[in-house]
Amino acid sequence: MTILFEPHRQWSAHLASQLGTGVLTTSRIEDVERLLADQHPEPLVLFGPTTDPGLALDFASRQRLARPALGVLLLRERLDVETMGQALRAGVRDVVDARDIPAVQAACARSLEVSRHLLGAGTPVQAAAEARVVTVFSAKGGCGKSTLATNLAVALAEGGRRRVCLVDLDLAFGDVGIMLQLVPERSIADAANARDRVDPTLVRALLTSYAPGVDVLLAPVGPTDAERIGRDLVARILAAVRTLADYVVVDTPPAFTEAVLAALDVSDVQVLLATPDVPALKNLRVAMDMLDLLELPTQTRLVVLNRSDARVGLTGADVERVLQTPIAVHVPSSRDVPASINRGVPIVVEKPGHPVSRAVRELALERIADDPPARSGRGLRERIGRAGSR
Ligand SMILES: Nc1ncnc2c1ncn2[C@@H]1O[C@H](COP(=O)(O)OP(=O)(O)OP(=O)(O)O)[C@@H](O)[C@H]1O
Ligand SMILES: [Mg+2]
Repeated sequence: MTILFEPHRQWSAHLASQLGTGVLTTSRIEDVERLLADQHPEPLVLFGPTTDPGLALDFASRQRLARPALGVLLLRERLDVETMGQALRAGVRDVVDARDIPAVQAACARSLEVSRHLLGAGTPVQAAAEARVVTVFSAKGGCGKSTLATNLAVALAEGGRRRVCLVDLDLAFGDVGIMLQLVPERSIADAANARDRVDPTLVRALLTSYAPGVDVLLAPVGPTDAERIGRDLVARILAAVRTLADYVVVDTPPAFTEAVLAALDVSDVQVLLATPDVPALKNLRVAMDMLDLLELPTQTRLVVLNRSDARVGLTGADVERVLQTPIAVHVPSSRDVPASINRGVPIVVEKPGHPVSRAVRELALERIADDPPARSGRGLRERIGRAGSR
């Protein structure tokens, strides 16, 4: 069942005729609630282009907990990055150009597929009960860990197809919240107060939703809270988070802190980030030696070269020689990266066709995800990207 909410009669008739049978149209939000109460399977609500976005976003954020399988799509006459960012954060699965009917149809199909997965009718994305933990690390600051971790989490989630929890373990200076424009109402520091009661229920309450499939455990706001969060507590928090998601992506500070050691202990994949400059490489070599000392397996390490085309005299081959490890993925350097951070929208969302986004998706879907990519996994990002680059 698809419900189309559209106040404007002509738009409503046009969209209903294009979307085929099985579309119920209404211009009253109470009708939407009433139709949903009938609990039809695979529900989908489309908000037409003349809907007040505030109403659609408010509806989506209420439904994401009440009816997690419900897909909410927002159609617009003009796509702008700000509305898209807000819509994603509210839990809207897709924002689509209302005049692009094939895109609207594809978005509906994709959303129904996600709903089927969530309702358990499709093949489960991952049979494992526990999430795979992916820790993004580099021993030198400013290499792009937080940038990569945030984009990686969104890329892995593929618009809600996988559940991803992003954990900011840069306890003193974490900036994942700022990068995603999240209000830090709850953070990992709240777990320090609970100590012995850290379990999945408590940790779930500390998560902040970012986009469909992406929840974030934010770093404390005050730098002094870090002292109260030791290795044991982080281990317990991660054990709880693992039961809530398919993938846990951990962002780290540039040092082997207690929290980092706890994360490395349980990591299934260690993404080791370097930039093509001598200090970064030296530090990464030292970090790899440290991982050897900790007896962490070498085959689960993925070396990512960020800003790999930055003209600083070191080539990918130089880097591989120094590290004695192949580079798994090259992420190019681009001014669009800091620009997207300043706007608070990850580049994989804002510009999905961008070389940086493609590199992050390659890392996420070809090197980390252990299930096949979605049939049309580029939907949401593809169109948001087109809109963002208009
Ligand atoms: N591929 C890239 N191209 C251009 N700029 C980049 C790229 N990756 C990261 N940056 C920029 O580098 C800066 C540092 O990135 P980021 O904060 O992600 O690094 P970090 O490793 O998390 O730093 P810290 O160690 O301080 O936590 C940011 O301004 C970011 O925009
Ligand atoms: Mg960082």
